[in-house]
Amino acid sequence: MSESVIVYPGFFDPITLGHTNIVKRATGAFDRVVIALSKDSSKDPLFTFEERHALIDSIYATNRQVSVETFEGLLVHYLEKKSYRTVLRGLRTVSDFEYEFQMALANKTMNAEIETFFMMTDSKYSFISSTLIKEIARLGGSVREMVPGMVCESLERKFA
Ligand code: COA
Repeated sequence: MSESVIVYPGFFDPITLGHTNIVKRATGAFDRVVIALSKDSSKDPLFTFEERHALIDSIYATNRQVSVETFEGLLVHYLEKKSYRTVLRGLRTVSDFEYEFQMALANKTMNAEIETFFMMTDSKYSFISSTLIKEIARLGGSVREMVPGMVCESLERKFA
């Protein structure tokens, strides 16, 4: 039987415990999880693409079920190029649904073979967003309970 692979795309500026919780749970259902880091340059991130990549790489360095890839341009084009068919997205609140629904349908319209799986974010992390984390860190608050340790240290260095 061929291995099941699911692709978890995002901008991850920075990756949070909400994201890592989704990845961990997905590894229980799929053989392999590919974190696909978007190179989209239209956003103005706090962490450079290289920094976001390095953080995700270090977090999953010893996890053989999780790999990190990057993509530029349309997600569907990357999926087609790599022969991936399954996408994972996390849903935190009802307000995420509209955007995610729109994106899943747009991707499916461009390529009918692509399926999007949604996973409910753990309630502990449902309030987390990368923007919120950056604001708390910028204003000197603690984000230890919200991001992986090395992200926390990187945020502290950024705002030192
Ligand atoms: N826990 C915590 N936070 C979460 C979360 C979770 N489980 N899931 C999402 N988030 C938050 C992030 O922290 C982030 O917060 P922010 O808005 O404050 O920065 C936000 O939700 C979304 O970030 P992320 O999950 O990194 O993804 P994104 O929505 O920025 O990425 C892409 C979307 C990259 C998948 C999408 O834009 C894409 O496919 N782009 C390529 C171009 C393309 O194909 N466009 C057409 C799409 S139809």
